[in-house]
Amino acid sequence: MRVGILGSGLMGGKLGTIFARAGHEVVFSYARSEHKLKSLARDTKGKAKPGTPPEAAQEADAVLLAVHWSRIDDVLKQAGDLSGKVIVTCSLPMNDDNTELVVAHTSSGAEELVKKIPKARVVSAFNTVPSEVLFGVYEAKRKAMRPSLVYCGDDSSSKRVAAQLIRDVGFDPVDAGPLRIARYTEPFALLVGQLAYEGKGGPELAYWFKRFRK
Ligand SMILES: NC(=O)c1ccc[n+]([C@@H]2O[C@H](COP(=O)([O-])OP(=O)(O)OC[C@H]3O[C@@H](n4cnc5c(N)ncnc54)[C@H](OP(=O)(O)O)[C@@H]3O)[C@@H](O)[C@H]2O)c1
Repeated sequence: MRVGILGSGLMGGKLGTIFARAGHEVVFSYARSEHKLKSLARDTKGKAKPGTPPEAAQEADAVLLAVHWSRIDDVLKQAGDLSGKVIVTCSLPMNDDNTELVVAHTSSGAEELVKKIPKARVVSAFNTVPSEVLFGVYEAKRKAMRPSLVYCGDDSSSKRVAAQLIRDVGFDPVDAGPLRIARYTEPFALLVGQLAYEGKGGPELAYWFKRFRK
């Protein structure tokens, strides 16, 4: 599929690279240098190119939104009309110094995003793992035990698109339900971040859910 990347930093740069290596057509956009977008595209060695936010979004089958919360309004304004688009957001509603969620409990970043782009089809995914684990998960994708990745959204066809991308990266997609469940997944992302960045063993951390039946 054609995947547009809005925000080509730690998450967008790595996920876009993996999507291209997995065979998707990727447009990297929204970084502070054109040079970075070009290098990212070249280094995938796949079907990838640099572009502007509208170029990334308008022809895309799925758009990955991967910017800091403070940049959401700017990148959406630049991207243009996103009506009908599948928007997979990994953006967390963090304050400027990334210490706290600025939306929580009675709403979530994903739900606030829908208020900004009500005609888009928003899925929340990829926000519960650190960027440092992504290449490792991709490289291990042929192994039997895939790490879980929770996602949620209100539109079933866009959730299928997100689940495919999640599988292509090497995770086992776990459908957590409607978009309001982002009220639980977003704080959970902070727990994973705490373990990744403050725990022992380094940030290359993923998680598994396992159901035990009698
Ligand atoms: N990093 C993680 O492990 C992680 C995990 C889960 C969720 N998240 C969430 O995912 C989202 C993205 O995180 P990230 O770590 O990938 O952030 P990041 O590395 O800072 O990437 C953000 C992208 O936005 C670009 N950008 C920032 N200001 C800009 C401006 N004024 N004009 C144009 N481009 C601009 C940056 O450009 P440059 O490339 O030039 O800096 C970068 O490409 C955040 O909401 C974060 O909370 C991150």
